[in-house]
Amino acid sequence: MKVIRLASELKKISANHRKLAFVPTMGALHRGHASLVDLAQTHGEATLVSIFVNPTQFSPDEDFGRYPRTLEADLDLLRDKRVNYVFTPGPEELYLSDHQTYAVNEQLGTRLCGLIRQSHFRGVLTIVLKLLNLCQPRYLVLGKKDYQQLIIIKKMIADFCLDIEVLGAEIVREDDGLAISTRNSYLKAEQRQQATAIYRALQEAKRNYAERPTGLSDNHKDLLHELPYECEYQINQQDLLKVEYTELLDRTTLQRRESEDYVLLVAVRIGKLRLIDNIELYPDLIA
Ligand code: PAF
Repeated sequence: MKVIRLASELKKISANHRKLAFVPTMGALHRGHASLVDLAQTHGEATLVSIFVNPTQFSPDEDFGRYPRTLEADLDLLRDKRVNYVFTPGPEELYLSDHQTYAVNEQLGTRLCGLIRQSHFRGVLTIVLKLLNLCQPRYLVLGKKDYQQLIIIKKMIADFCLDIEVLGAEIVREDDGLAISTRNSYLKAEQRQQATAIYRALQEAKRNYAERPTGLSDNHKDLLHELPYECEYQINQQDLLKVEYTELLDRTTLQRRESEDYVLLVAVRIGKLRLIDNIELYPDLIA
């Protein structure tokens, strides 16, 4: 495994690969990231993972300073998985001291998580675009856990005419259903226990969806109104959790419209921490 620190070196190496599969991360790698690597390895001729805690996607009141940085353990994990290249740049490699230009999604980027984390997606799109320009991959692998991020990045790739296929990897969960996330380590024991209600509510929503006898389009209005409500109600039963949003949306555009394929997105606040999760709901589930 080759560890690359310079952007210029990454450019040279990527010029030798036509079918690179790229997994961008902020490090503190866990089983969720490992599954992204697995998916990358089934597609690319070589796999590149980047590790960079991107300052522009954190607002001043967020956890940039204390975000876990575990580079040695991350490199061990990637070595074990036989990743070909790891890019671990310092900030000066990616941001000029007079950096001025950002990639922005003015619609979807301002909704859902973008309403609360206002410049978050601007930071995400900007760093992902920089990294894509440097490594020119054929495949970009992202997790479905950050569903809005996945769709926004796909949209940027389409809007900016980039020839990159985006692969969405399924959410990896703990045994009790909690979606694995670096920030789960911030949860205190009682919060961690109550957080399991999120997945239970999503599962309940999935059961309700599947049991609707007359099919989707007839029940479309009910579905839009009831599913998020049921989900919200159940999560709010826990005293430590507060639902920020539940939305049932078309799963490819994240628009509120009649669709065959939905995703139910949830954001929950526990103390100062926000947890997000989701479940895809589509007709194959009831077939
Ligand atoms: O999902 C993440 O870890 C980050 O948002 C990403 C895509 C690596 C950009 O910094």
